[in-house]
Amino acid sequence: MSSSTISALPGSAAASTAIALYARATEGFEARLLRSRAVLADAFGADGNSLLQSSSLGAEDMVITALIAELGLPVTVATLDTGRLHGETLALLAQIESRYGIKVEIFKPVNEQVVQFVRKRGENAMYESLALRKECCAIRKLEPLSRMLAGRSAWITGLRREQSANRAEVPFSEPDGQGRTKLNPLAEWSWADVWHFIETHQVPYNALHDQFMPSIGCAPCTRAIAVGEDFRAGRWWWEDENAKECGLHQAKSNEELKKSGVQA
Ligand code: ADX
Ligand code: SF4
Repeated sequence: MSSSTISALPGSAAASTAIALYARATEGFEARLLRSRAVLADAFGADGNSLLQSSSLGAEDMVITALIAELGLPVTVATLDTGRLHGETLALLAQIESRYGIKVEIFKPVNEQVVQFVRKRGENAMYESLALRKECCAIRKLEPLSRMLAGRSAWITGLRREQSANRAEVPFSEPDGQGRTKLNPLAEWSWADVWHFIETHQVPYNALHDQFMPSIGCAPCTRAIAVGEDFRAGRWWWEDENAKECGLHQAKSNEELKKSGVQA
């Protein structure tokens, strides 16, 4: 069983919330929390208004938004609305505004690109081949990401080492390959830490987390996982383990994006 495997008890699963299943106070949590706060506060000191939180509205990102609000940092919080998100995910936008007074900036794909892709390849082309799935991600996520990050010197993500083998080395701060700094303040947190914070700080969270979806992306590319399955088993489940990234966290130059047919 890998460090990213969900190990809730099957007997308690059916009626339990994500908090009941996963929240646990473990040794060193307070120290990890202090380091995360320091990563955010230091980054704001260095980069000020140029800092942006890239939020998928998943559990980790909701924790980070709560920390930003708690620290009083006027960091822009933004999300990529691919047009294929669940209603439960989009519902968090209003909850963040009412809870923290933060209006999340929304970046959407270019409508014409989506229309052309769907006309040519269909609504569910992502299941047909890795190339088509990546083309969909390029149009719906990567192109809007490049607009979202334009003019920013640093961005904040919810990446954690425990999430997958690909992410096992995630540092607190790293170059993103395009001249910016990527900050991962929760890099060393466990899944239990995330839910312990959500519980103790009453952080709003995606209702789908209560339905065995620990990692949530677009609706057609996310399914619930079974007990004992890997944390990201419900993402692009029909693909090979190593392919399971949409490209947001793989350095890609604008030239490469253009080559793959997307105007950056
Ligand atoms: S993904 O690459 O597989 O989609 P994942 O869902 O694990 O990524 O999220 C990792 C981090 O990428 C999130 O914590 C967030 O910082 C960023 N991210 C993912 N999806 C989005 C999105 N739709 N909008 C903004 N940021 C996102
Ligand atoms: Fe398209 Fe799925 Fe990628 Fe979303 S995650 S952009 S629906 S392929």
